[in-house]
Formats: sequence, C-alpha cells, structure tokens
Amino acid sequence: MDTDRIRRDFPIYSSRRGDLVYFDNACQTFRPRKVIEASNDYYFDFPACGGRSIHRLATQVSMRIDEAREKIARFIGCPNPNEIVFTKNCTEAMNLVAKGTTHRKGDVVLTSDMEHNSNHVPWIQLTRSMGIKRRFVTTPSSGIFDVELLKDAMTKEVKFVSLVHTNNVTGTTIPAKDVVEIAHDNGALIMLDGAQAAPHMKIDMNDLDVDFYAFSMHKMLGPSGVGVLFAKEELAKNMDPLISGGGGVSLTEYDKATYLPMPERFEAGLLNYSGVIGSAAAIDYLSAIGMDSIREHEANLNYYVTKELKEIDLIHILEPVDPSRRGSIFSFNIKGLGSHDVAMILDEVDKIMIRSGMHCTHPFFISRGIDGCARTSFYIYNTMSECERFVKAVKVIVDTFSV
Ligand SMILES: Cc1ncc(COP(=O)(O)O)c(C=O)c1O
Repeated sequence: MDTDRIRRDFPIYSSRRGDLVYFDNACQTFRPRKVIEASNDYYFDFPACGGRSIHRLATQVSMRIDEAREKIARFIGCPNPNEIVFTKNCTEAMNLVAKGTTHRKGDVVLTSDMEHNSNHVPWIQLTRSMGIKRRFVTTPSSGIFDVELLKDAMTKEVKFVSLVHTNNVTGTTIPAKDVVEIAHDNGALIMLDGAQAAPHMKIDMNDLDVDFYAFSMHKMLGPSGVGVLFAKEELAKNMDPLISGGGGVSLTEYDKATYLPMPERFEAGLLNYSGVIGSAAAIDYLSAIGMDSIREHEANLNYYVTKELKEIDLIHILEPVDPSRRGSIFSFNIKGLGSHDVAMILDEVDKIMIRSGMHCTHPFFISRGIDGCARTSFYIYNTMSECERFVKAVKVIVDTFSV
C-alpha cells in the first residue's frame, strides 16, 4: 500500500498538525479531500431538501442520495438498494431493529458477553418494556469466539441473536457465516454489529444471508453522523419505525398513518444529505484501494507492534496475543499504570493518539476485573514509521513510569 500517496489525500497530514500519529481509528477515521469536497458540494451547489420538493435543486439531492444508496448496497453485496437505510450512526441502526422487531414476553435475545453498549443497552430497555430475557454467550479466555458455546446456548426460546462481527476491544472477528446459519437453523433472526468489520474487510450480505447488519460511515472515511442499516425487506417492511413523522409516511389522517415502503419508512425527518453524499465518496475511495489491501496493510502494522511489545513483561496484551486474530486492533495495559495515563503520556510525549478506558464495553471489563485498557487502532494512512514511534514511546513509558 502506497501510504505516502494516500496521506497526500488527507488534508490533516499537510496541515500544521501533520506530525501527529492518529491511532484512534476504531472511534473515527480521518477523511480524504474527496469526501470533504463531496460533502461540501451539497452546501455549495444544491443545499435543498431531498424526497419532498420537486424543484431542480431538490431533484439533484434526491438523485445523489439514491446514488449513494446504490453505491453502499453494491459495496456490501446487497442486490436491493431499498434494503439500505440511512441512520445517524450504528447505534441508531441497532436500536431501530431491536425496538422495531416484535418480541413476546419471555423471548430470549442472545448476545455475547462482550458487546458494545449500543448492542447491549437497547436490549436492557426491552427486558423492562417487553419482558424479553437475555442470554450471553461467554467468550473463552483465548478471546476467540467459540461456535460450540453458541450452539449450546441456542435453545428454542432464543428468537433473536445479536452479535458483534468484529470486537472493538479485542479486534477478534466471529465466523459470521457459520453463526448466521446456526441462528437460522434454530429459527432465530440475527443481527450483526458491523461497526468494526465493515471498515476493514469485504462483507457480502448476499453471501452472509444475515437478517440485519449495522455500521457507521465515520469509521470508514465517511462524515460524522451517518449510519447504515442493511435490513432484509421481507422482515423489515412491516416493522414500526424507531423515528416516525414527515417523509416516512404516504398518508396520514387525524387518527392514523400509513408508512411508506422501505427505506423511507425508517428515514422520517430531513436526512444528513451532506453526510450521505460524502459517504458515497468514502465508498469510492475504499473501493479504489480494495478491502483486501486494507486488511493486509493493517495486519502488517499490527504484526510489527505486537512483535516489538509482546515480550516485555510489564506489558499485557489483551487476548488473543496473535496479531493475525486481531485485525487492526492492539489493546494493552502497562503494569502499574491506568489506561488513561498511558494515553495521556503518549499524547503528551509524542503526539500519539490512542483510546483508553472501557470502550463502551463495560460488562466485559467488569466481569474480568480489569478497569480498562489502552487501544491502538490502525487504518490505511498509518505507516510503519508511526508504529516505530509508538513502540519507542511505549518502551519509554514502561522504563520510566511502570512499577
Ligand atoms: C463494535 C461497535 N459497535 C457499535 C459502535 C457504535 O457506533 P456509533 O457510535 O457510530 O453508533 C461502536 C463504536 O465505537 C463499536 O465499536
């Protein structure tokens, strides 16, 4: 991967902040110039409302939104663009599904024990409001998802399975196709939280046959505040929308409303047009590089950092230690130091930005008696020399501050 060329596409690297090392990509990535320009095009050239007014500016907005929807559908192997719903983030997409699905009292919803709060809290709400029950598939100490444990947990009471595709703390990826098959064989619906998978690997809805798949564009070069939900039309077409109102209905009377078909039924209110148009540019950018190259590049960086740091006694890498199982994520602790201290020192000493804390995955940490971790996450513009800087800085921290 030609990172020099790639970095020239990202304005931040040619600004006065160009010497910073950004390793917080699992939270949000930087955006290339093309994405920023495409988003700005909306404000400069056709800053109007899509899907309602019929004048020329509005028509242009509608066409660009349709184009973005088609592009994203193609990118994730979904033959029907109507199955792509724009939300404000992955969290909203998963809430839409959790709260729009019909649950009966006593139905079991199965997740893993290491879900992001966005795939955890909505289900807690439903235990209270609908009387659903929760069941958690335990993750072994190896950190690697065990399909046999999933099979054991799949009794007939399980009506819905909702799992993180790639974990935001450990970086491990579940065998999604097998998991979908197991859920379906047991008569359950399945949603995957693709927030950390879609930015880093080729995903194919047609091949996976998953019922619902959610992710956020701001973790894959797109603007902030755009989420994507893939939802099978035959399952979602009669679901109640999470947000209802103008633009989501065909007709209302004083006492009733008729919802539009998908996707509009789930997109009431004005959309983030600029963000959606910028998202299409992000998809173009990623497609031109190729998801396999992205994966390979991240693996190389992760391999190097792991090799350099894994033998240091005072450093604990969250399992699995093998970098090939962790995609773009390197999570660790330094004995005697809190994760926020590590993050703060890295920023202070060499402008290296990582994430620290519990990463919105509190039950995972609490159940293991750990109070968080430092997380380094790579993307396409990160370089080996940045990794060298990181390794050097971590070694200095170990030598200077740890006990
Ligand atoms: C695994 C996972 N799921 C869900 C989310 C929530 O994404 P968003 O904040 O874009 O809704 C994140 C964000 O970091 C995540 O890592």
